[in-house]
Amino acid sequence: MTPSLPSRFAEAIRGACSILVLSGAGMSAESGIATFRGTQGGLWADFDPARLATPKAWKADPALVWGWYLWRMAGVRAAEPHAGYAALAELARRVPELHIVTQNVDDLHERAGLRDVIHLHGELFAHRCAACARPCPDVAIPSEQATQPERRVEPPRCGHCGGRVRPGVVWFGESLPDAAWNRAVTLAGRCDLMLVVGTSGVVHPAAGLPRIAQRAGATIIEINPEDTELSRAADFRLRASASAGLALCLEERA
Ligand code: OAD
Repeated sequence: MTPSLPSRFAEAIRGACSILVLSGAGMSAESGIATFRGTQGGLWADFDPARLATPKAWKADPALVWGWYLWRMAGVRAAEPHAGYAALAELARRVPELHIVTQNVDDLHERAGLRDVIHLHGELFAHRCAACARPCPDVAIPSEQATQPERRVEPPRCGHCGGRVRPGVVWFGESLPDAAWNRAVTLAGRCDLMLVVGTSGVVHPAAGLPRIAQRAGATIIEINPEDTELSRAADFRLRASASAGLALCLEERA
C-alpha cells in the first residue's frame, strides 16, 4: 500500500521555501549500494570497521584498507541513481532553495543532477595524499577488485611527494571537514523543512542536525522503512523506501 501524508505535512512540503535533505546510506540502497546497518544486515555486519575504516587500520595495513575502498568504488561505479534521486532533483527545481547534506561517500546525488551536495563524511573518489594532502584524482580500479573486497592492493604514490594515496573519506576517529560541517549547521538552522532520508541516525555529529533544525522551527519528516534513533523526534515518519517517499513529496509539490 502506498503511504500517504497527513494534510499538515503535505502542507509543510507545499509551503516550504527552504528544504534541507539529510541523507544516509539508505538513500543509495535501491541503487544496490549496501547500507552499514539495518535489519537486512549491512557492511558493518560483514566487515570490521576497526580493520578497515580508522587511521589505525590504515597505518597497520594500508593495502587491505585501499583494496576494500577500491571494492566499494567498483560497486559505486557500477550503480546508477534510482528514481528517488530523480524525484529529489525535480523537487530541487520546484522549491526556492533545496540543499543536500549527505553522510554518503558515493556520487549518486551529483550523477542525478543535484548541485551543491555537502559531503559530511568525505567522498569516495576524492583521493588525496596521506602525507601532503594534495588531491590525487587518477586512480585505477582493477576489474578483479569488484568481487574481492579483502584483496590487498598497494595504494598508489603521490606524484608530488611520494606519500601513499588514501581514500577521501572520513574514518572513525577523524574530524568532519570543518567547512562542510559549518555549512550543514547553518543550513539546518535556517531551513523550514528537513527530509531525513535513509539514515539510522546513530553516527554523530551528523545525527544531531535534525535537532538543530527542529529547535530553529523546522518540520522534520523522516523517510525510512524502519524505526531509527531519530524516529521519535521526527514530526512525521514516512515508512517508505527513499524512492517511494520522495515520489510522494514531489507529488505534493506538483
Ligand atoms: P546506516 O547503514 O547506519 O543506516 C541505513 C538506514 O537506511 C537504516 O535506517 C535503514 O532502515 C535505511 N534504509 C534501508 N533501505 C532503505 C531504503 N530503500 N530507503 C530508505 N531507507 C532505507 O547508514 P547511515 O545512517 O548513513 O560513516 O550511517 C552513518 C554512517 O555510519 C556512515 O556515513 C558511515 C557509517 O559508519 C563512516 O564511515 C564515517
